[in-house]
Amino acid sequence: MMQGRLAGRTALITGAAQGQGEAEARRFVAAGAHVLITDVLEKPGRALAEELGERARFVRLDVTEERDWTAAVEGVDPDWPPLRVLVNNAGVHWKRSLERESAADFARMLQINLVGAFLGIRCVVEPMRRAGGGSIVNVCSVLSLLGGRENGAYSTSKWGLRGLTKSAALELGEHGIRVNAIHPGYIDTPMLRDAAGAGRSDDFYDYLPLRRSGTPQEVAELAEFLACDGSSYLTGGDFTVDGGMTAGSGPR
Ligand SMILES: NC(=O)c1ccc[n+]([C@@H]2O[C@H](COP(=O)([O-])OP(=O)(O)OC[C@H]3O[C@@H](n4cnc5c(N)ncnc54)[C@H](O)[C@@H]3O)[C@@H](O)[C@H]2O)c1
Repeated sequence: MMQGRLAGRTALITGAAQGQGEAEARRFVAAGAHVLITDVLEKPGRALAEELGERARFVRLDVTEERDWTAAVEGVDPDWPPLRVLVNNAGVHWKRSLERESAADFARMLQINLVGAFLGIRCVVEPMRRAGGGSIVNVCSVLSLLGGRENGAYSTSKWGLRGLTKSAALELGEHGIRVNAIHPGYIDTPMLRDAAGAGRSDDFYDYLPLRRSGTPQEVAELAEFLACDGSSYLTGGDFTVDGGMTAGSGPR
């Protein structure tokens, strides 16, 4: 009998081929879960599933495609435990001023970061209800709590996901389905490295209370807690993992 605080449940993680999603897949498998690693990046996703062994499987899932969601959820191996965890982690980011942003790209950002998670939530409600409950973790951002210069589309998508988290928590609690939001700050992943480019000085993070960026593993730790029964009375919550970025502001 597999031990671990996520044993006996299947977790679907979106955008899990790299970055935070990858760290969550690794951690969830180590905690005993069966994990559906999903992403649009097939090669690294498949390689990760192969490395993690028989309790991990890769499924190509573009979060904006409803039929991909249906195929992934209906295709869960009948020998696997019930689907009881969804981590809506997939996301895209680009930095652009409002004047330079196009309506089409603004809508595309919402489609991936917000509508994608909505499609996922809608798709897992029935299997989770059948399983007697579940946990949905929505990966938002500190830009779900604050605005961001040249981040109009991104922060709008993440504030929307935060609102969806709270509405879903209200609606799904009676089925034993908990829904919580994670708000990462600067996390060292390909996304952050793309955003920073070559232009970030060594002391960039000195303004943060913890004076450094976070690791994907530190986010995965929180995701695991929200996914497992240790957080059984938590729903509709906001959980920052940001080195203190949103604790306050002002000169030192
Ligand atoms: N890294 C940070 O500093 C940071 C901060 C706050 C929030 N976040 C959020 O954390 C989440 C994970 O980001 P990350 O830092 O690991 O970035 P990342 O770019 O390394 O990973 C994102 C993953 O999402 C996948 N993805 C993109 N579009 C997709 C789609 N349509 N369907 C399925 N998968 C898709 C990508 O292929 C990629 O594997 C994102 O939602 C991001 O917005 C990141």
